[in-house]
Amino acid sequence: MENLIEIKNLTKRYKSKNAVNDLTINIKKGEIYGLIGNNGAGKTTLLKMIAGITVPTFGAIVVSEKGIKTGTLISKPYLYGDMSAADNLKALSVAAGYNIDKSTISETLDMVGLSGVGNKKAGSFSTGMKQRLGLALALIGNPDLLLLDEPSNGLDVEGVVDLRNIILKIHKESETTIIVSSHILDELAKTATRICLMKNGKLIVDCSEQEFLEKGGGKSLEESYLKFMAQN
Ligand SMILES: Nc1ncnc2c1ncn2[C@@H]1O[C@H](COP(=O)(O)OP(=O)(O)OP(=O)(O)O)[C@@H](O)[C@H]1O
Ligand SMILES: [Mg+2]
Repeated sequence: MENLIEIKNLTKRYKSKNAVNDLTINIKKGEIYGLIGNNGAGKTTLLKMIAGITVPTFGAIVVSEKGIKTGTLISKPYLYGDMSAADNLKALSVAAGYNIDKSTISETLDMVGLSGVGNKKAGSFSTGMKQRLGLALALIGNPDLLLLDEPSNGLDVEGVVDLRNIILKIHKESETTIIVSSHILDELAKTATRICLMKNGKLIVDCSEQEFLEKGGGKSLEESYLKFMAQN
């Protein structure tokens, strides 16, 4: 598989602290690249730099293909509270330059489990429903690259399972490359084809689930994670 994104010596400095510190990783096309790490490890900062929301202090992000479409769900989705879920999708798609029809809107709402509430105002949605709508927004336009920062945040058990199945479906049916962060390693491993562990802005390990277990020396992913964190 060819690399879609090559990240070289990427650094983001805030005052005296490197939020991302000399990070070099490659993300292959079609991969589900899972980011895990402690609070403040730099996962969101990394995703924001890949999305072009945050400017790196040093280093490079090289995307091998020109003009790729990127869908993002980073922090809380921006929604119009007094508009319906369907109208939010329509308005924000137009703002992003996509001309989507009614059937695409209903298909996308269906995909994220919001088909029954497409006409309800987004302002009345629960945290998890807003998160589902944010995911729907990220999926509009069939992106080549999907950046999801803790997408299961606020979701109920059904929501977590739905999200997992959406990610697996996209992976199976399209060449979309997905970079997803999470705090729940076992959940992340259910979809990720590669796991990247970060700590204090630095890369600790970037490998397959099997290698994560073996290199970490734990009996479970969690044990390996704790060993990696203690060693580094
Ligand atoms: N805009 C900012 N200004 C100053 N410091 C920042 C800013 N954004 C992030 N940081 C700092 O950079 C570090 C990395 O933060 P980041 O949000 O990327 O971590 P994270 O891995 O996403 O953490 P979490 O798991 O809690 O979401 C933290 O120490 C944070 O305080
Ligand atoms: Mg974060």
